[in-house]
Amino acid sequence: MTRHFLDVDDLSPDELAEVLALAEEFKSNGSPPELAGQTLAMLFEKPSTRTRLSFETGMTQLGGHAVFMGPDDTHLDHGEPVSDTGRVLSRYVDFVMGRVFDHDCLVEMAEYATVPIINGLSDIAHPCQSLADLLTIQEQFDSFEDLSVAWVGDGNNVLNSFAIAASTVGLDLTIATPEGYEPSNDALLRASDRGRSPVLTNDPEEAVADADVVYTDVWVSMGQEDEREEKLAAFDGFQLNDELLPDSALAMHCLPAHRGEEITGDVLESDRSLSWDQAENRLHAQKALLAYLA
Ligand code: CP
Ligand code: NVA
Repeated sequence: MTRHFLDVDDLSPDELAEVLALAEEFKSNGSPPELAGQTLAMLFEKPSTRTRLSFETGMTQLGGHAVFMGPDDTHLDHGEPVSDTGRVLSRYVDFVMGRVFDHDCLVEMAEYATVPIINGLSDIAHPCQSLADLLTIQEQFDSFEDLSVAWVGDGNNVLNSFAIAASTVGLDLTIATPEGYEPSNDALLRASDRGRSPVLTNDPEEAVADADVVYTDVWVSMGQEDEREEKLAAFDGFQLNDELLPDSALAMHCLPAHRGEEITGDVLESDRSLSWDQAENRLHAQKALLAYLA
């Protein structure tokens, strides 16, 4: 059966550990050209710097090839059904990675495709980011044992997937969002199914009190531009700044960041910021994922 990666829990806990170990191995020792002759199709309905470049570079480093297709390069957003696209792409390429507005588009494509469909970000999930985030935390602390992570900000796609990932590896996660901006119930349930239930609060200070790492992301995600004013008002007090970040804690942000909104330039530029490692680790983690799914 074709394996897809639409969210973190498409990998069992053991498989997730295997992918992380392979990512570490690739990062330390380089990667053999094990995808020689293979092609990844990359479908983008939204902009991207890290996802596009890390997947394309990753395929090159593994001896394969990636094809970028933006919103106007395929018939997908211009009338051709997702089901037809999934079947046709499967006749040419070995993997498809999609960044889409509507997660269901990936679910439907996965129903029809006979090659792995990989979620490169949807409205509700960003599992490739979670792989890089776990790799980054593992590098910093050597293990996930007895670690507490706080999320401060929007209960968005990055958090939904991270909550499942954190629970899978045994991280304690406390989430502070304004009321009404919690992560999805479905993601929280699936996180609980993996062994740990994230703690929810509306108080950022309470969330970060015992945190080893504090993670944030933009308040206005791609596709939410119409909600910008409303969200900026709701997130007042949720900025990750020097005052909120405990002295002993590290800071995470998946990037792109909006300095002065969800995070200050001081925190992002400080030597406690893991963002640049997170960005680099997209490459290693996704290479491991591709090699694993091949
Ligand atoms: N973090 C992330 O997915 O970045 P891009 O939007 O640049 O791909
Ligand atoms: N939550 C952000 C993540 C960008 C990588 C968005 O969806 O725009």
